[in-house]
Amino acid sequence: MQIQLQYYICNKINRLNLINIHAITSALRFYLQADTYYRVHSPFVFELLENTLEDNRDYYVFDKLNALRNELYKNKTKIQITDLGAGSKKSNNPRRSIQSIAKTAVSPIYQIKLLFKLVKELKVERTIELGTSLGISAISLAAYAQKNQVHTLEGSPSILEVAKVNFDIFEAKNIHTYLGHFDQQLPYALTNVEQVDLCYIDGNHAKAPTIKYFEMCLPHTHKDTVIIFDDIYWSNEMTEAWQIIKNHKSVKLTLDLYYFGLVFFNPDFKEIQHFKILASKLKPWQRYF
Ligand SMILES: C[S@@+](CC[C@H](N)C(=O)[O-])C[C@H]1O[C@@H](n2cnc3c(N)ncnc32)[C@H](O)[C@@H]1O
Repeated sequence: MQIQLQYYICNKINRLNLINIHAITSALRFYLQADTYYRVHSPFVFELLENTLEDNRDYYVFDKLNALRNELYKNKTKIQITDLGAGSKKSNNPRRSIQSIAKTAVSPIYQIKLLFKLVKELKVERTIELGTSLGISAISLAAYAQKNQVHTLEGSPSILEVAKVNFDIFEAKNIHTYLGHFDQQLPYALTNVEQVDLCYIDGNHAKAPTIKYFEMCLPHTHKDTVIIFDDIYWSNEMTEAWQIIKNHKSVKLTLDLYYFGLVFFNPDFKEIQHFKILASKLKPWQRYF
């Protein structure tokens, strides 16, 4: 169990490549406070977790995605990057290797797998992603069904070019790309999808933009929409943004998984509920008491 917790923390530090005291202290507090799905009484949440977070099956695309990640980890080609967000505390260098982008910006594989399972479980057909990077998460979001149209936004032209090559490798014809600042591109993407089933916000990790993107998406949500925020404990600002979003009047349910915050809007939920959830393997005794 300690090893699992260390894995979470080290993974976070690796991704940021710096000692992030806020992320570490939040991880420890989160671990103490969080429950596993064994202690969840809401049928909707229990079933959702059982079929996603607790589903340990490997789907056909995971091996291929892992292989792509490994290739990107080895790719020393340098590209010019345009940094439009608060997401790379690590480097101010406008030229970076694909290897370094893959190691610092791309979501870990357990998160990539969870996105795939959420699309499957929630029968998602209209997805928006803020932050394409090298395209791994977009591929995972798009892989379950051709029916799911994934609209992914990226501000850095050369990074998006690499992502497009990866989309071609996976023959992911249901991914639509938008190049430019989220502020300008999100309205286009939202107009194109009209209503969004799943929105994954994984870029520009600062308080004001995070809240702004949430509010821009709100008019395009429906009762089964989920909005997923990445890195809600990445900084004080992100945690503050998460608290504000959790308490928004339209929010009926939140699931805090530490690395992701999931927000649901279904007005049929009888009471507003906020859960902090860990995978059951991290607190196995909760199965019994
Ligand atoms: C953390 S990475 C996304 C990782 C990707 N979702 C994955 O898991 O594979 C964030 C990306 O968002 C882009 N980005 C950040 N702020 C942005 C902004 N304001 N407008 C457009 N793109 C932005 C960055 O260039 C970066 O590639």
